[in-house]
Amino acid sequence: MVKGKTVVIGITGGIAAYKVVYVVSALKKLGVTVRVVMTRAATEFVQPMTFRILSNNPVFVEQFAEPKVWNVEHISLADSADLFVIAPATANIIGKIAHGIADDLLSTSVMAVQSPVLIVPAMNVKMYNNPIVQDNIARLKNYGYLFMEPNAGLHACGDVGKGRLPEPDEILQRIIHELTPKDLKGKKIVVTAGGTREAIDPVRFLSNPSTGKMGYAIAEAAYRRGAEVVLVSGPTHLQASSGIKVIPIINTQQMANAVFDEFDDADLVIKAAAVADYTPIAYSEQKTKKTEGEFVIRLRRTTDILAELGKRKKPGQVLVGFAAETQNLLENARSKLERKNADMIVANDVLRPDSGFAVDTNRVTIITKEYTERLDLMSKEQIAEMILDQAMKINTK
Ligand code: CTP
Repeated sequence: MVKGKTVVIGITGGIAAYKVVYVVSALKKLGVTVRVVMTRAATEFVQPMTFRILSNNPVFVEQFAEPKVWNVEHISLADSADLFVIAPATANIIGKIAHGIADDLLSTSVMAVQSPVLIVPAMNVKMYNNPIVQDNIARLKNYGYLFMEPNAGLHACGDVGKGRLPEPDEILQRIIHELTPKDLKGKKIVVTAGGTREAIDPVRFLSNPSTGKMGYAIAEAAYRRGAEVVLVSGPTHLQASSGIKVIPIINTQQMANAVFDEFDDADLVIKAAAVADYTPIAYSEQKTKKTEGEFVIRLRRTTDILAELGKRKKPGQVLVGFAAETQNLLENARSKLERKNADMIVANDVLRPDSGFAVDTNRVTIITKEYTERLDLMSKEQIAEMILDQAMKINTK
């Protein structure tokens, strides 16, 4: 989704400049053209050559340097940007932009830019809390400049507090977010992820190996594309972006309640969770002690959330289910589509080592009432995009 875009990254003089090395490298790997502009102070912290090699582009520092890459460099740089990022942004550059001062290549380029500008401040906590800096940030936000909040923690100078540059991966994710077209704006998408746990006693439960990766990848992709996203998640180590509404649940009934609560105004529901089909009839308040001989747990069926949504579905709402199969993949998936009144089933063979639980890739087949499409082995992120693309094409009106 971001391949072929151009990001201009302005780097100003702060110790956190080294963190941007990773961001430039990661963007390049995603097929983004990266052009780096450094202030002279920034070159005291990281050599321009590092960025030149990683971006595979000249690094711009001096405003009046000869020979030039472009005739009028600050204008061409600004015009080339789909997104202009300043990271780390010092109190100085924020103050200059806020007051229209353009006295070096970076500040003149920002003055000319038409694309969104994302500013990522990093400075000492006392400097960050200075009301002049805060006023300048507020002023720029008013003009439509985008900001990332600094992290709190220990600073290089020994002070503790807010002002640290966010981690490189957080900056990368935010840049990807800003570059992604918002084609799902106005849609509400409910996603379920992870496995559910059915308690036997206070220390034991029935569950499955789902890690939630597929569901989280779908939720993130939908959020990047501008949707309002609700993620109903079983226990997992994964962390969702802060703009996603996460409803943590443990068991199937809690998942069912959360999904039903969110269903009425949802445009699309994607049930990627591996839901327990059975739950113990009796729950023991105390830890069950072992005895000689066999031990039997009696189970009853849980609510089939997808099937229930299939009954409640109104025209315009789209329902996507998953089918984790070990045999007769297509046959079973097609029958699930019918039985549960879903609009799409994403089927995967969980016995393959490259698909299913706890791996980063998946090989899935998409089945709708009209067609069946077997996708190649792909990352769960790519599959998430394909599922959203296909689901949005389904018309249930
Ligand atoms: N599902 C659900 N509620 C349940 C069980 C499953 O909403 N109690 C959803 C899953 O999230 C998934 C789809 O139904 O989207 C298929 O789940 P799966 O367990 O693979 O299939 P089942 O319908 O349970 O069928 P079978 O047991 O025959 O495989």
